[in-house]
Amino acid sequence: MDQVFKLIDKEKQRQREGLELIPSENYVSKEVLTAAGSILTNKYSEGYPSFKGIGENKEFWTDEKIAKEKLGNYRYYGGQENVDRIERLAISRACKLFHADHANVQPHSGANANEAVYWAWCRPGDTILAMSLPAGGHLTHGAPVTRSAHIYKFVGYGVDESGDIDYKELERIAIEEQPKIILIGFSAFMKVPDFKRVASIAKKVPGCLLMADMAHVAGLIAGGVHPNPLDYGFHVMTTTTHKTLRGPRGGLILSKGNVASPLKKPEHCLENIPILIDRAVFPGTQGGPLEHIVAAKAVAFGEALKPEFEDYAKRIVKNAKALAKALQKEGFILQGGGTENHLILINIKESFGIDGKFFERALDRVGLNLNANALPTDKGGAFRPSGVRLGTPAITTRGLNEKDMEIIAHLMRRVIDICVGLGEESLLGDAGDELANIKNEVKELALKHPVPGI
Ligand SMILES: Cc1ncc(COP(=O)(O)O)c(C=O)c1O
Repeated sequence: MDQVFKLIDKEKQRQREGLELIPSENYVSKEVLTAAGSILTNKYSEGYPSFKGIGENKEFWTDEKIAKEKLGNYRYYGGQENVDRIERLAISRACKLFHADHANVQPHSGANANEAVYWAWCRPGDTILAMSLPAGGHLTHGAPVTRSAHIYKFVGYGVDESGDIDYKELERIAIEEQPKIILIGFSAFMKVPDFKRVASIAKKVPGCLLMADMAHVAGLIAGGVHPNPLDYGFHVMTTTTHKTLRGPRGGLILSKGNVASPLKKPEHCLENIPILIDRAVFPGTQGGPLEHIVAAKAVAFGEALKPEFEDYAKRIVKNAKALAKALQKEGFILQGGGTENHLILINIKESFGIDGKFFERALDRVGLNLNANALPTDKGGAFRPSGVRLGTPAITTRGLNEKDMEIIAHLMRRVIDICVGLGEESLLGDAGDELANIKNEVKELALKHPVPGI
């Protein structure tokens, strides 16, 4: 057996026996896994399916309709009859799920989706206003290490003492800088953004594109427990498909506006943003789409349209609130005092005097996975930050409930009691046996809740 498969088996075991608390991870269904691992990986499909027949329209399953469909597509390769239908299903389901006029399901990742939107609307040197990284924004929102930061001028807004977006600062900068894009999006922010307020601020910036990067909360939006920016005047929403949305690893761009052929160069106006986005994804920033992943996205969107997904989204938030409360009871100090979504940020430095990386490594040893994360006040850089970030999408998929959140918080506190004072080397030596006991308890709890699909 190729060594790769042995390592995949080991990874299966790690996933089964541990508990995933990284808020950007999840466990997909067997069906999503099957589509992602399908023979669609063999197919080249640069371009787009025609826009005729969007929807799950049974009519299209006749030879005559197939012929018409083929004439209407915008692909650069033959043999597209099945792939076109699959991509259309993904598009129509995504539009339904997020109340969009158009969906581009081809971005290979969330980063690609964001880059394509910037490229659709901006030109080099244009200004983009986004949440700064230390405040909870994402790398792709203008961190100096990214390519976009070299192309566009990013200006950042922050959060206030309560941990909410500093809307007054956002408004002041927006008026002063007149950005081409105002971007609301985050990867470590525990409040619900006031999209209506941001849309009214944007009225003071003519020609400004309102963009939301909802990578973290897309599943909560789909499940109806978080507002949808597209319902509040936003033009574009990007997301990853693999976090709360529980699909394959990938990106998605949803937009409001005119939907038409991407072959004809459209006028550069906000109404044409769907067409500008299609052209910015392909050929602007990507080549051939990963149609096996597009198929897996279609399956995941179908799952998210089912009523059970609403229940799942509700349980994610319930569990996050229960976990936040239990952690506070165990002495952990939380950024913003708690959570309104699936994310929790612990100020581990202030709680117990250790940094986030130490705690991440200590928890790794017991099969609890989360990640070290900078806090808005952090000056220490990304490698030894003062915080850790965790969340409930994955453990909720496995069926853990509010009572289990108390158990997890207590296990985390026990790791603290073992490690604090001993120093990081103790993880390999002195603390080993005691950590092994906790690891067994984590395993026992994890095995009661099988990972779907494996
Ligand atoms: C808000 C946000 N946007 C974009 C991304 C990038 O997604 P990807 O890792 O798929 O490129 C992430 C990933 O964590 C994210 O949290």
